[in-house]
Amino acid sequence: MNFYEEKIFPAIIEKQMGKDNYKQERNTTLSNVTGKTLEIGFGTGLNLPHYPEHVKKITALDINPGMNSKAQERMQHAGIEVEYHCLNSEALPFETGSFDTVVSTWTLCSIADLDSALAEIHRVLKPTGEFLFLEHGLAEGATMKKLQNLFTPLQKKLACGCHLNRAIDQSIQESGFNIKNLERFWFKGATSPLASPMYRGVAKPIPMRAVYDDQNNKGLPYR
Ligand SMILES: C[S@@+](CC[C@H](N)C(=O)[O-])C[C@H]1O[C@@H](n2cnc3c(N)ncnc32)[C@H](O)[C@@H]1O
Repeated sequence: MNFYEEKIFPAIIEKQMGKDNYKQERNTTLSNVTGKTLEIGFGTGLNLPHYPEHVKKITALDINPGMNSKAQERMQHAGIEVEYHCLNSEALPFETGSFDTVVSTWTLCSIADLDSALAEIHRVLKPTGEFLFLEHGLAEGATMKKLQNLFTPLQKKLACGCHLNRAIDQSIQESGFNIKNLERFWFKGATSPLASPMYRGVAKPIPMRAVYDDQNNKGLPYR
């Protein structure tokens, strides 16, 4: 990681994504958290104050050690125990079927190998578990899509790998999830209008055998 990624970017995240309009969306998204919970792309821990009261412990991870100092400070005052790991969500060190809930907010945009990360989320969720996501991504309108495609290379440089043009729902579904409910909305106050088209939803893992059969034996392997 370079100086910008480790020092400057975490400070930008903390300032921009701690704003009130973000807080409101965090509250709504996290209200459905139940049971043993994993948060990927924990950042500076901005979700922590928004977990419902019944949540007493979470496991959290982030790839960027620069996010750690602010996150540690927040963890100390959160009233929630956090088992924190600095690691890549593309390869998780957790048992298969070990979480009831996995949470991701504004993170799927910047994971380099999204398919691997989603496969890992699928793996670590219990069959009854839920993946709660709140993500910006590909817009619905053609002009906006073109602009998102055009500016994604620049965005990736400025925002540590962030893609503006990911079809979040499609990626989640193609990784063996059934999206129970999906809310598409325009988020006012995002860093850029290109990052305003939002996807919020709850996805349930489809058992791997069913995914495999459904894809006519060309899809994901049996587990
Ligand atoms: C835009 S920030 C959002 C942080 C936090 N989720 C929030 O809502 O405030 C995206 C976060 O994802 C993390 N990230 C990116 N790729 C990752 C990966 N492969 N594994 C784990 N974390 C990752 C980044 O380091 C960053 O902290």
